[in-house]
Amino acid sequence: MTGGLVDLVLAGGTLVTPEGLKPGAVAVQDGRIVAIGNDAAMPPAREVVDTAGCHVIPGAIDVHVHFREPGFSYKETWASATQAAAIGGVTTVFDMPNTNPPTADASAVRAKLALASAQAFVDFGVYGYIGDNNLDQLAPMAEAGSVAFKLYLGSDNPLVPCPNDGAVLDALAILAELGIRCTVHAENTPILAWRGAKLKAAGRHDLAAHLEQHADIATVEAVSRIALFSEWTGCPIHIAHENCRHSLPLIAAAKMRGVNITAETCPHYLYLSMEDAPRAGGSALRVKPPVREAGHAGPLWDALASGVIDMISTDHAPHAPAEKKRASIWDVAPGFPGVETSMRLMLTAVHDGRITLPDYVRIACEAPARAFGLFPQKGSLQPGADADLVVIDMNREGVIRGGDLHSLGNVTPFEGFRTRGLPVMTFLRGTLVAKDGQIVAPPGLGRPVRPRRLRAG
Ligand code: NCD
Ligand code: ZN
Repeated sequence: MTGGLVDLVLAGGTLVTPEGLKPGAVAVQDGRIVAIGNDAAMPPAREVVDTAGCHVIPGAIDVHVHFREPGFSYKETWASATQAAAIGGVTTVFDMPNTNPPTADASAVRAKLALASAQAFVDFGVYGYIGDNNLDQLAPMAEAGSVAFKLYLGSDNPLVPCPNDGAVLDALAILAELGIRCTVHAENTPILAWRGAKLKAAGRHDLAAHLEQHADIATVEAVSRIALFSEWTGCPIHIAHENCRHSLPLIAAAKMRGVNITAETCPHYLYLSMEDAPRAGGSALRVKPPVREAGHAGPLWDALASGVIDMISTDHAPHAPAEKKRASIWDVAPGFPGVETSMRLMLTAVHDGRITLPDYVRIACEAPARAFGLFPQKGSLQPGADADLVVIDMNREGVIRGGDLHSLGNVTPFEGFRTRGLPVMTFLRGTLVAKDGQIVAPPGLGRPVRPRRLRAG
C-alpha cells in the first residue's frame, strides 16, 4: 500500500457468494482482494467504484472454449474471443486443443500460451490433447503449463482423433499420477461413424439427421465407460457439454460411489430444443453433441440445482458465418459462440426462478475453480484471491444480436433472445477490462493460470 491507500474499493453494492447475498464492499491491492466486508470497514482507496444497485460476483470461469488460434484465425482470434469473454463477465477461460497444429505436445502448449499471452484480455489455460501417439507428451505438456487434458471419445476430426481404449486407460493412469483433470467429449465414435454413414447413404441432409446420428445411447455408453475407467485408474474426469437426461443418473451414481467426476452443461442445452430450430437459425443450430428434442432441459436444470452437474461452460465454438449456412447439414460447421452471452442468459434464469444468484456463483465461478485446482485464487471473494470481479446489474434488459457480439464467428442460436441481468463492469486482477459492453484496457493483460495438483479419485 502507498500512503495507507489501497488501489481500489468497490463499495455500496451487494456481494454474492454461493452462501448468499450480503451488502458489502471489496478492497483490492496489487491485483488481489485484501479486504471484504462492510463499506465502513474498507481501507481508504485511490479509487472507489460505486456499485450501488448492483451485485458483485467473482469473474466467471469458462472451462470449455475454442478460441481457434493457431490455425483458424478467420473464425476467431485470442483478441476477439477474450474481448467477448471480458464483456460477458468471464475472467478465466480454458481453450480446447483442436487447433492447427493441435495442442498435442509441449512445444504446442508453449506456442499457444505465447500466442494467447500477447493478445488476451482475460486469464487463460490451455488443454492438452490425448491421442494414440502422444502418451509420452502428457507429462511434458503438464510441465509446460497445460491446465487439463481433453479426451475426444467422440470425434471425426482428423486433427484430434479418438484414441483407442487401451491408450485411454494408459493416459488416465498417467493423469492420475500427475493429479490433473481429464475433460471428456463423451460420445461413442464407432456409433457416430456407423449411423452417420447410414444417414448419408439414405440421402438425409436435414438437421434431424444430425440428431439421429448422435443418438442418446452414443453418449450414455461413453459416460458409463469413462466413469468406469476413471474409477479404475483414479483419474479425475470432467464430462464436457452434458446434454442428455439419460446420462444424469450415471453421473449421480458415479459421484455416490466416490468417483472424482465433475460435469458441465451449456446454455444451449438448457434453453433450446430441436423445436426451437426454426427461430434458432435452422441448420445453424448444428452443434456436437446435438441440442436434442424437448424433455432434456428440465432434468439438466434440476441436475444443475442439485449439484449432479457441477458447472456451466459454453463450448464457445465460433465459425465463419458462411460455414454456418450450407445446404447439407453434414457441411454445416458445428458450434457457435457462447462466452459473451452465457452470463446474461443465466442471470435471466435467475429472474425466471430456475436458479438463485448464489447458485449461479457456485456453478459459474466456484465449482470450475475447485474442479480444476484453481480455488480459492480464482472463483472466490476472499482476501488473497485474485481480484477478478464482475459487477452485474440484475435489472438491465436487452436483446441478444449476433451483430453486437465481439466474436468473429457471430452466428448465434440466441438471436433475438430477450435477457434481463447484465455484467456491466469486469475487473481482471484489479484492472477494469470491460465496462458497459466496451473494452477499456489494452490487450495482453491476460496470463496463464497454473492449477494445483488434484487428489486422485
Ligand atoms: C467444436 C468446434 O467447432 O471446435 N464444435 C462443436 O460443435 N462443439 C468441436 C467439436 O466438434 O466437438
Ligand atoms: Zn467443444
